[in-house]
Amino acid sequence: MSRPARLRCTINGTEFDQEVDPRLLLVEVVRDVAGLKGTRIGCLTGDCGACTVRADGAIVKSCLVLALSAEDRTITTIEGAEDLAEIQHAFVAENGFQCGFCTTGMVLTAAELLRDNPRPSEAEIRRAISGNLCRCTGYDSIVAAVRRAAETLAGA
Ligand code: FES
Ligand code: FES
Repeated sequence: MSRPARLRCTINGTEFDQEVDPRLLLVEVVRDVAGLKGTRIGCLTGDCGACTVRADGAIVKSCLVLALSAEDRTITTIEGAEDLAEIQHAFVAENGFQCGFCTTGMVLTAAELLRDNPRPSEAEIRRAISGNLCRCTGYDSIVAAVRRAAETLAGA
């Protein structure tokens, strides 16, 4: 058993200041300590993207980093992100999810893409979500959702 270590950061606008096992991954603290279950665990090997969160505004696969790496940083999960409404509506409109397991990671990844590239091509969308695996949809409806969101956000 490792000695607990203090972790101070901000999660969804709330100060987090607790002793945690230093071996815990960020996704484990987010889900099991902070209780934010919208962040999923699919693989724990960095392959599926289900654990995607934002760290200081940039998406990160939270199974690939130790929780202590979040020290002094701002973590935002799907529950705390306030800029996703248009993307979430687009996913609903295009049936961009079925079981929903991948969806929180997909939405956060789509948001980062559209922030950096408001008019992505289909190829650019597929490349952007290539680190997020979906076992249900076949991806076409997800691509359509991202395209719809892009149009909405651009006011088209
Ligand atoms: Fe992190 Fe799959 S659980 S990438
Ligand atoms: Fe089920 Fe993507 S909707 S894994």
